[in-house]
Amino acid sequence: MKTNTSLWAICLLALMSCNQNQPTQQTTEKPAATPTFSIEKSDFGSLPTGEAVSLYTLRNKNGMTVGIINYGGTIVSWTAPDKNGKYEDITLGCDSIEGYVKGVPYFGAIVGRYGNRIAKGKFNLEGKTYTLAVNNIGNHLHGGIKGFDKVMWTAMPQSGSDPTLKLTYTSKDGEEGYPGNLAVEVTYTLLADNALKIDYKATTDKATVVNLTNHAYFNLSGKPESTILDHEVVLNADRFLPVDKTLIPTGELKPVAGTPFDFTKKYTIGARINDTTDTQIRYGGGYDHAWILTDNSKTLRLAATVTEPTSGRVMEVLTTEPAIQFYTGNFLNGEVIGKKGVKYQHRTGFCLETEHYPDSPNKPAFPTTTLKPNEVYQTTTVYKFR
Ligand code: GLA
Repeated sequence: MKTNTSLWAICLLALMSCNQNQPTQQTTEKPAATPTFSIEKSDFGSLPTGEAVSLYTLRNKNGMTVGIINYGGTIVSWTAPDKNGKYEDITLGCDSIEGYVKGVPYFGAIVGRYGNRIAKGKFNLEGKTYTLAVNNIGNHLHGGIKGFDKVMWTAMPQSGSDPTLKLTYTSKDGEEGYPGNLAVEVTYTLLADNALKIDYKATTDKATVVNLTNHAYFNLSGKPESTILDHEVVLNADRFLPVDKTLIPTGELKPVAGTPFDFTKKYTIGARINDTTDTQIRYGGGYDHAWILTDNSKTLRLAATVTEPTSGRVMEVLTTEPAIQFYTGNFLNGEVIGKKGVKYQHRTGFCLETEHYPDSPNKPAFPTTTLKPNEVYQTTTVYKFR
């Protein structure tokens, strides 16, 4: 990672002076005094096309940092304190843009236009059949071959009382097979209480389908050489979506009670993950399913709590979305070389992707993911550390 800081934006709470589109250039050096909060812009290399990639490091007053690049709107790092106040990076990712371009399984990226799967890459909308890119054992996954995780976003630091980065991208009519020009805005705000708020917004000029999420992989121990199997999880969800062998929901909403999918009480990830007597565990190769939140109010409410006992880190996930995909890094196999040269092995990261249900465009009984012109798609998810 290139670290030469090209620009410092010091947004002091008392002296709010950040320009809407461009951080205020106050000094070229790190300030001597600890700023209340800041956004630092630095060079993150370039794409094979020559396009420059920038890293924006959001820092709150406590010292929590979140690094976001404009390629894929990707969270490349995130530091959180352990029980002794030690800040460590708790996300999987790469040290350089080359790593991301070479191919990673959506580490930290914005996922869209449709997060998760659409069966056979086909759906009907307003009497027309649309054919999407098929990129996952016969199905469409995470927006296709060049989804939102692989495009350049326009990044704009925002003024306000917390470090905020707005990313925008316009997905063209027909891109990866989807109808309509879709204008997307994703805003990351690092709050003073060690929470990252992600606001998603989209509008279209033709009826389309939308399901946006973030695909951060967490290892709350700060040691991604170790698995996440000892992390303790609570999911506020009393049903989940069973899938077929290709991970497409069958349509059933199955109660979690009495299954390895019951996280209504705290369980370690590892406790039942290898219970292959359970068909769904077999199909997922572990956990790779959407849980339906018990509270269907669509307000920002607690969906998940994850505790890593050794470091004492606790992460809460709040969302306005109806479901959460809990994926336990079952496809990680040591092939991807991540930050500090660590080869991410099987189950060394987990994801909590807040979303609508997978394959909703083909399942009329699921909450709709259709977005029409004159409607605004708007969701919020918060990842909070305590
Ligand atoms: C998602 C999917 C998984 C897998 C990962 C990326 O979370 O549900 O099946 O494709 O992304 O490897």
